[in-house]
Amino acid sequence: MVCLGNICRSPLADGLLAQKIRNENLNHNVDSAGTCDHHIGQSPDARMTKTAENFGLSLAHLRAREFTAADFDEFDRVYAMDKSNYQNIISISRNQSDINKIRMILDENHPNQDMEVPDPYYGGKEGFLNVYSMLDEATDCIMNELRIK
Ligand code: 4NP
Repeated sequence: MVCLGNICRSPLADGLLAQKIRNENLNHNVDSAGTCDHHIGQSPDARMTKTAENFGLSLAHLRAREFTAADFDEFDRVYAMDKSNYQNIISISRNQSDINKIRMILDENHPNQDMEVPDPYYGGKEGFLNVYSMLDEATDCIMNELRIK
């Protein structure tokens, strides 16, 4: 799960999918990263943490890190939150096999609509709630795919 800072959107996507995988006793490695280095080592944004907590999801164990080309070796899928993240990930990719792993996360629940998870960082509380509902739905769709595999 990849966003810009790895403190708002991608930690939530990471936490949601990891919790759903755990709940069903499946075995998949989930992680998140940012394409910028500004927040490396930081906990998720307090507003995102609070929103997740209101739904019973803890993000307390997560720390921001930067996405690197090695992530293409480690993971089968790389989910971008918005088009800018997508382009940043493309610029780090090394070959077609890397590129084939990249998805826009909202293509999961809204295929072919080019939808983005809006960056909630500079907005109000409602933005974080909106991000939660979008990513809760998208991770439900990812779970549907993982169950078939
Ligand atoms: P994220 O949100 O990409 O969802 O983690 C942001 C976090 C920090 C900044 C921008 C977006 N920032 O400009 O510092």
